[in-house]
Amino acid sequence: MLFEPFRIKSLEIPNRFVRSATYDGCAEKNGHVSDRQIALYEALARGGVGLIITGIAYVHALGRISVYQNSIAQDNDIAGLTQLTRSVHRFGAKIAVQLFHAGRERGKIFQTQPALAPSFVAQDPFFSGLHRSMNEAEIIEVIDAFADAARRAREAGFDAVQIHGAHAYLLSQFLSPFTNRREDRWGGILGNRLRLHREICKAIRAKVGEDYPVVIKLGVEDGFSGGLDFTEGSAAAEILAGNGFDALEISQGLRGQIYSQTEYRTGITRPDREGYFRHWCRQIKQRVNVPVMMVGGLRSFELVLEVLQKKESDLVSLSRPLIREPDLIARWQRGNRTPSTCVSCNRCMEALLQSKPLACYYTPEK
Ligand SMILES: Cc1cc2nc3c(=O)[nH]c(=O)nc-3n(C[C@H](O)[C@H](O)[C@H](O)COP(=O)(O)O)c2cc1C
Ligand code: SF4
Repeated sequence: MLFEPFRIKSLEIPNRFVRSATYDGCAEKNGHVSDRQIALYEALARGGVGLIITGIAYVHALGRISVYQNSIAQDNDIAGLTQLTRSVHRFGAKIAVQLFHAGRERGKIFQTQPALAPSFVAQDPFFSGLHRSMNEAEIIEVIDAFADAARRAREAGFDAVQIHGAHAYLLSQFLSPFTNRREDRWGGILGNRLRLHREICKAIRAKVGEDYPVVIKLGVEDGFSGGLDFTEGSAAAEILAGNGFDALEISQGLRGQIYSQTEYRTGITRPDREGYFRHWCRQIKQRVNVPVMMVGGLRSFELVLEVLQKKESDLVSLSRPLIREPDLIARWQRGNRTPSTCVSCNRCMEALLQSKPLACYYTPEK
């Protein structure tokens, strides 16, 4: 079952495995695709994963969060991105680009001007950074930037786009009642806090057509109490599934304590700690009519098979296991079904934060 193809509109994925979006810190400083990235993605494609979702690609200069991040904000990004999609397609894998705007998170890194946010929040235990509330014109500019980026994605040969609607970035900030304190049509009731998501989807659709898959990675609960709760988060998933998004990847919204209240949790030392968002994904799968991807701490073949057999998800998505072993899926397919050797230590993440390139930095003690 795990090695059977799966279709999302015009996209046929050769198996049920997805490489969840993973920022690699390897782009050229002008945001273009680097040779190192081509090699990294080729290794993943050769390694058997059906669909690769790129790391965060910024759609607007003010949504950028790193100098080593890919851009899809300008037409001159298309040539390099085309090289990337071709290098993946040569090995039979499919590739989607993750369209991203950092929102206020940019303020943690770039401090020359206040970062854009739904609202200014004075007291936030988990965030400090220069930020300010966006005006209507700035919101419209962001919507157009997502739509233009999706048009570039299609031109560059990507098989789909994934909107980043999770992990404390702009769309998460709009959805969470903790960071969205607006009193206009972009804030307040859930429908208003989801307006940006829906408008982005509509604007993208107008540029890429009906058949092109538009997926969203959605944060359905914040990492701390007082933020978005699952009642609203799962309702949001249902609304977006009914309003033009073709698939959902279920993850977390705003981050709380590092790492226990983030999307990249540690301590996955026993099988029962795997799949830490499984309960969310299972419930949402029952409520929506579009395909669902489960992500978060999936490490063993038996578990991902069970998830599919029990119809808790349509696809399974992995990040850290494929940093450590880019050929994990091919290994499983060959019959060596031992679990991923990733120990979820997050040294790869910590290295990225120190501007080192993406790699597994864990060495087992002898
Ligand atoms: C090094 C690293 C980079 C990541 N970059 C992204 C990213 O660009 N976009 C995104 O949506 N999630 C990103 N994530 C989160 C992963 O996609 C995934 O949701 C999370 O790590 C849980 O899955 P896992 O247990 O299989 O790693 C990143 C995670 C790690 C460890
Ligand atoms: S550094 Fe740790 S979390 Fe990252 S891939 Fe290696 S073992 Fe996994």
